[in-house]
Amino acid sequence: MPGFDPERLRTQFPALAMSVAGRPAVFLDGPGGTQVPQRVIDAVAGHLRAHNANSGGAFATSRNTDRVIEEARAALADLLHAPSPSEVKFGANMTQLTFGFSRAVGATLEPGDEVVVTTLDHEANVSPWTALAERGAVIRTVDIRPEDCTLDPDDLDRAIGPRARVVAVGYASNAVGTINDVAAICARARAVGALSYVDAVHYAPHGLIDVQRLGCDALVCSTYKFFGPHLGALWVRDALLQSLPAYKVRPAEDRVELGTLNHEGLAGAVAAVDYLAAIGCEQPEGSGAPPDGGRRAALARAMAAIAAHEAALARRLLEGLAAIPGVRVHGIRDVGRLAQRVPTVAVTMAGRSPREVAETLGAEGIFVWDGDFYAQALIERLGLGASGGVVRLGLVHYNTQAEVDRTLVALERIAAQA
Ligand SMILES: Cc1ncc(COP(=O)(O)O)c(C=O)c1O
Repeated sequence: MPGFDPERLRTQFPALAMSVAGRPAVFLDGPGGTQVPQRVIDAVAGHLRAHNANSGGAFATSRNTDRVIEEARAALADLLHAPSPSEVKFGANMTQLTFGFSRAVGATLEPGDEVVVTTLDHEANVSPWTALAERGAVIRTVDIRPEDCTLDPDDLDRAIGPRARVVAVGYASNAVGTINDVAAICARARAVGALSYVDAVHYAPHGLIDVQRLGCDALVCSTYKFFGPHLGALWVRDALLQSLPAYKVRPAEDRVELGTLNHEGLAGAVAAVDYLAAIGCEQPEGSGAPPDGGRRAALARAMAAIAAHEAALARRLLEGLAAIPGVRVHGIRDVGRLAQRVPTVAVTMAGRSPREVAETLGAEGIFVWDGDFYAQALIERLGLGASGGVVRLGLVHYNTQAEVDRTLVALERIAAQA
């Protein structure tokens, strides 16, 4: 068993071999979209090369496309622990899937029904829901505690009241890394008869998702955030979906998938899930495998190994940042609380705008995002909207301690020159 070895895994990602100004590039831009392993590239190209046809035909390439669609539903069902692959739906991205779903839910609301969103969420899990105000829905927004960017539990309790019909919440913040207690929030929603909609886009590359354990009604993610192609996936309880009005073409059966799917993307999504499962197969037995076996068990082992590696990186990064004068981390800083965050770290630097810091890092091959990343309400709540937001240092499992150290050295130098 090789165990978890990021250096060996990195060799599977052609992009990670890139150099900038004579030095290896450091990809800390994962939260905006991760790089992909060769097997994903091969799967996408392989589908286009040999299996390209529309679905439902009586000939070989069309049957292959049907098989790819089925395999993609099965792969995502394993990743999300969906009770049935038929409950997994695909679309262009999370935002489109969420707008489609919120429109259908909105058609069932009565004036005065309440829809709960949070200040911590990406706008893609806010705007589709706040748009329902046009139909008479009352929007309740759960605030954060600015000191550590966690949801305010008292405000959450107040917001999810007897008239709540929808609770839309993120699994992990794409700006500051906070992991929400989604199972507790879904239980609270259920207790008042509201449906829960979970945005797992940012959490997916960092931890094991289990829609059955979470007790949510729908959960959405995007495969390009976990080493796959640009595609969105929605799991929704079938009974709920069937109860909603369908905006679809007359003869089509599916209520979410409108028109032809991105078949080559689906082939790549299968390869991305299989890439993660292969990591699990390389881990020593018994490190967090659930009893249900197969690819799901491998994914559980993989995500446990990934989380352990990422926690070590996050600790090193947070400790290093704390020692740089003028650098401020927004979100959970305490390395005793690493289980409550993913390794997505938002910083500001005294005397330097986020764009200046990102540009300086970018010039030496360290790729980071700056701005609000559509977590607009959060960045405004932190009072950073007018000053360019934050610099986001986004680690995933293919990042290394050496990359963290190189980033810290670069930030130290920028801080000293500010
Ligand atoms: C937490 C979160 N939710 C939603 C989205 C939107 O995803 P998509 O680009 O698939 O619409 C993003 C993209 O950055 C995100 O980070």
